Amino acid sequence: MSEAVPGDRFLVSPGAPLEGTVHVGGAKNSVLKLMAACMLAEGRHVISGVPHIADVEIMAEVLASLGLSCRRVHDGDPEVARSGAEPGDLVIDTPGRLSTHTPYELAERLRASVVVLGPLLARAAEASVPLPGGDDFGSRPIDLHLHGLSLLGAEFATVHGNIEGHVSGHPARLVGSRIVLEYPSHTATDNLLMAAVLAKGTTVIENAAREPEVADLAAFLSQMGARITGAGTSHLVVEGVEELQPAPRAHRVIPDRVVAATFLSAVGLAGGEIVIEDARPEHMDMLLRKMTAMGVETSHTPEGLRAVSNGPLHSVDVATLPYPGVATDYKPLVVTMLSVADGVGIVSENLFSGRFRYVDELRRMGADIGTEGHHAVVRGVQRLQGAPVRAPDIRAGAALVLAGLVAEGETVVSEAGHVHRGYENFAGKLRSLGADVRVV
Ligand code: EPU
Repeated sequence: MSEAVPGDRFLVSPGAPLEGTVHVGGAKNSVLKLMAACMLAEGRHVISGVPHIADVEIMAEVLASLGLSCRRVHDGDPEVARSGAEPGDLVIDTPGRLSTHTPYELAERLRASVVVLGPLLARAAEASVPLPGGDDFGSRPIDLHLHGLSLLGAEFATVHGNIEGHVSGHPARLVGSRIVLEYPSHTATDNLLMAAVLAKGTTVIENAAREPEVADLAAFLSQMGARITGAGTSHLVVEGVEELQPAPRAHRVIPDRVVAATFLSAVGLAGGEIVIEDARPEHMDMLLRKMTAMGVETSHTPEGLRAVSNGPLHSVDVATLPYPGVATDYKPLVVTMLSVADGVGIVSENLFSGRFRYVDELRRMGADIGTEGHHAVVRGVQRLQGAPVRAPDIRAGAALVLAGLVAEGETVVSEAGHVHRGYENFAGKLRSLGADVRVV
């Protein structure tokens, strides 16, 4: 279970430098897609390393609305002997026939649930999913998903706020095609990949997203019998197959690079020496380069990543870009570090128009940040001041908690539920490193 309770707040006070080892957990932006991929084959699927976060629970409800059932493996579960699953793993049972409608009440809680569209069209030749609205990042259209799926033969209409998709023909089946993405959208690539694996013939996706989570999805699909080459590159080739089967063994989701980055920022801000267990430095090259420039030394160890920070932080300029660039999800963390660094840093957001909303909250804590369009100019101050602030989204909420580690007095971060969506036991993990953080 996640620790989410409506009205939750984080209470944060500054303390000693951080010390100890912290475990990262599976990547939210991978596991949500792996769960959707289970729709593609009838039978029992097992996923390991699934974080206990609220978004996983909502995705499980989305899948339940489509006829699947999800449960965690418990001690003494027969699944342990059958598939080598471990307690805590997620077991997903997929029926022979899927329901095809996602209710609005679920979809509005989880934008990522749009990734059921590709699997539904591939497996059931029809889908009805709510058209996503805007959110705190600004407008988040899905035109690239729909355009790509149309090239595979799906037809769409918008009816009463839902996107109704269907595939014609006897038998109704998507047909492989060449898709050039105007922009390497992460979830559009996921959706197209999951649609293409059961399409007739070959699909080529050009300018595909290169995120490690897309490669993880491709690895999972390949274990299910899909034929994919180029995973992790911008040129994906998929030879469609007639049918997929559940992967023969439990698939372990890759570690969450944004959670790892969050602990790197924590040690950058509070100082100290920590080991981030399971972190994969090769998934975070650009960020690590920026961290080094800011004064956080990192080294690869057998357990993961060791991070040390002793002196003042230094300012750098950062521009967010699609992977392997500096991810937009890291930006609130970097802006928070820059707000107490020596000098001036310029941060440019190139992905989401509205992703500077948390800046007002940092200003309430005494940060000196000016914004102009998609740029922020951050002038480091000596010290932040504790204040009541509001978490606007998952990553910005985590960044505000970290700001509290270096703010005079107490910081209260309300709407903690946003953070619980993507972080497993965030306060507990920070406390295990010596930080003074509680959820009330
Ligand atoms: N875009 C379009 N049309 C589309 C799709 C995207 O114009 O059809 C635009 C978006 O509006 C945005 C840009 O393309 O300006 C990037 O969007 P992308 O589709 O790559 O983002 P996403 O797939 O919706 C995922 C993650 C985000 C992460 C971004 C960028 C999931 C569930 N979400 O979103 O993660 O910020 O990629 O890497 O995978 C988070 O974890 O908190 C989070 C928001």
